[in-house]
This record gives sequence, structure tokens and C-alpha cells, in this order.
Amino acid sequence: MQIYPDLAPDDPILSLFQKGVKGQWAADEFDWTLPTKFDASEATSFARVLTPVYLGEQTAMLGASTVLAHFAAAKETSAQLYITTFMLDEARHFEMLTRVYKLLDRRPLELRELREMFRYHHRLLKSKHRLDWLFGILISDLFAKNFYGMFRKLFPDTLFGKLSVRIIGDEARHQAFAEHYIGRQVDEMPYETRDRLLEMRDDLLVIMHQMLASLSNDAYNVGFDGYALMQELEEDIRRKIHALGLEPEARAEALETLEGEEAVWRNEMGITEG
Ligand SMILES: [Fe+2]
Ligand SMILES: [Fe+2]
Repeated sequence: MQIYPDLAPDDPILSLFQKGVKGQWAADEFDWTLPTKFDASEATSFARVLTPVYLGEQTAMLGASTVLAHFAAAKETSAQLYITTFMLDEARHFEMLTRVYKLLDRRPLELRELREMFRYHHRLLKSKHRLDWLFGILISDLFAKNFYGMFRKLFPDTLFGKLSVRIIGDEARHQAFAEHYIGRQVDEMPYETRDRLLEMRDDLLVIMHQMLASLSNDAYNVGFDGYALMQELEEDIRRKIHALGLEPEARAEALETLEGEEAVWRNEMGITEG
């Protein structure tokens, strides 16, 4: 670490830290009397589909605590500062979702009930480099953005719809950070590193699809098309990778499998459009 770092005022990551500090809010500022508009069966399904996101909030918080020390060791002080607000954001999301479970009187799935969650988080946490870790977080944050964004769009007047709006604001800062941090390294990035990141993207997408396949009935019961969500997510990731300048390499084999699974699911559910 540096005793007296040069925290340049024009460093965009430093300004994201300042935004992160100003953007803090507490769970008790939120109106918890808003209606959930779930019946008993929908509440059970919602508790299930929320589980990967819920676990994701906690994994992000824990991962941030690890990467903080790596930023310090690399003398990346603005990133070191920024990540503290990230950690507090994820802690708040975790706290709020815990409160949602209590309110619904439901429990999240256990890891053994959805093994893909374990695989997903293992894939994220096995990263040794802070760059890989941030890339994984970028993918996870894009997933969170699409998940919360869908509730904001489909159920704007419900408790979870309103909560989603608050959380999305935080997630936007997280994405901006990952983009800045990865973006400033892209020009110098060895092909081997790019390949490693794109391989991680493919792995995470495949696991997300498997997770979704296990939860598709619950998603349907809550009132959304999980595969439409995945399509939007894939498009988001594709755009982001393109914008970052990482190779838009085809992942034909993985996608073919995923599209096949989607076709089966849509057929089973009788969904023909889109
Ligand atoms: Fe979060
Ligand atoms: Fe996040």
C-alpha cells in the first residue's frame, strides 16, 4: 500500500468513489408497507427465483473484501477506495433481500436444491486476478440489472418493483467501475487474458442458463419469461464486451446448446412469440 498516494482529482474511479459515498442510503428509508401483490403460490416461486440474486449480493460483498487487499497491494488506491462503497452497497442489498424473505415468510433455496448456484459462485471466486474478478462482477451486475430491471418494468407499483429501482441505481455505479477498470487495461491486455475473460463469460452464461432451466416454472408462475430475460442479458453482455474492445469471439457451441434448451422450454410452456 501507499502511505501518501496521488489521488488525482481527474481519476474517473475516484469520482465514482465520491458518487458512491453520496449515493448511500439505508434500508429503513424504504417504504416497507408497499404491497407485494403476490399470492401464496407466487410468493413461493418468487422466493425461489430470487435465490441466485440473493446469493449473488452476498458473494459480491465477500469478493469485494478479498479484492480490496489486492488493489492496495497493486497501489491502485482509487480502486481501493471505490470498492469500500461497493461493499456497503452489496451489504445493503443483501440486508434488504433478507427483509423481503421475512416479509414474504419464505426461505431461499438451499445450495443443494440448486447446485448451479454453487457452480456459478465457485466459478466467480476461483479467479486469482483482480481483473478476472471484476469481469465476473460485471457479468453478475448485468444479470442483476436485467433481473431488477424486469421487475421495475413489469411490476412498477409493487414493493419489489420499487425496491428494484433503488438497487439498480447502485448497480449502475458498479458497472461503471468495472468498465473503467477493465477498459483502461484493454489496450495492453495480452490475448491470453482476453481469452480467459471470454471463457469465463461463456462458463457463467452456460451456468445461468442451466439455473434458469431449473427455475423456469417458478419464473412463469411469478409472471415473467426467464428466457426473454436471458436474451436481453446476452445482448447486454455482447454490447458491453464490444464497447470494452474485448474480442467479440463467437461462442457458437455454448449458444447452440442454450438455444436448444430454450426451444424445449418454450415449447413446454406453450410460448410461441419472440
Ligand atoms: Fe447488488
Ligand atoms: Fe453489484
